[in-house]
Amino acid sequence: MYHDFNYEATLASSLRAAWQLDDVLREDQDLDFSRNFMPESLARTTAIEGLSTDRQRILNQISAHQYLSIFGVVEEFILPFLLDHARPVLRDDDYRVRALLNFASEEAKHIHLFKRFHEAFKRGFPVECQVIGPSEAIGAEILRHDPLSVALLILMIEWMTQAHYLGSIRDNDNLDPLFKSLLRHHWVEEAQHAKLDTLIVEALAEGRSEEEIDRALDGFFEIGAFLDKGLAQQAKFNLDALEAVIGCKLQNRGEIEAQQHQAARWTYVGSGMVHHRFKATLADISAKAADRVAEAAPIFA
Ligand SMILES: [Fe+2]
Ligand SMILES: [Fe+2]
Repeated sequence: MYHDFNYEATLASSLRAAWQLDDVLREDQDLDFSRNFMPESLARTTAIEGLSTDRQRILNQISAHQYLSIFGVVEEFILPFLLDHARPVLRDDDYRVRALLNFASEEAKHIHLFKRFHEAFKRGFPVECQVIGPSEAIGAEILRHDPLSVALLILMIEWMTQAHYLGSIRDNDNLDPLFKSLLRHHWVEEAQHAKLDTLIVEALAEGRSEEEIDRALDGFFEIGAFLDKGLAQQAKFNLDALEAVIGCKLQNRGEIEAQQHQAARWTYVGSGMVHHRFKATLADISAKAADRVAEAAPIFA
């Protein structure tokens, strides 16, 4: 194993770092819609030719709405997954039980926080932005897969949040301070989740043959393809929202749609696939698994 993660230390760090919703966004606080919410490396709106600065900012904010919505969806299937994983081991190691339940409780808090930001977004944005879903149906489709496939997906997502904050948000002074604070607080707690999910993946992979792990990887890719379809649909919804705000059709809509779909692929899949710790866990459980993911990663760049 490449790491020294354990339940006791992770639980202790989690309890020290924990925050309350009001530390991040009070219910009466408003977002600053004169600013960008997302870093350019994720939203990729300034790269769109022929789009005015104003429209780039509006699309950047729509892309932040997408971030809130996608993470809402994701956390909603992580929560039951964790409870299912914790239930059979409730009588095992006390630190393990507490760490897993604390992990679940933090994800429930994140769902709550993302909803609060969503409300603030709706208060300040001129049109309603449509979102893929319903989240229950997306969650059910994902959770019908092998738990190891799902755990790998969750691990990828958790390392991804680390890359997003450290790589493009922490040192960025151009973003709305409240949105930046959301991403920072999420990053703090997800850092512990990523360690716990590493342990979950290892527990689920233990004792499996190379072939069985390969089949779990098939499941991981199936879920990835399913999510990718959702991201393509979401790119359409995002441009519908932009057109509704500006009151006219975009001339090169097809091109922008493809470009924004690719931005979402990088944000929600690619940036996790190439994370060195995600790759290290894959390599630990199977060299072939690591190779398969490395081969697919350029599609999501
Ligand atoms: Fe979370
Ligand atoms: Fe998490």
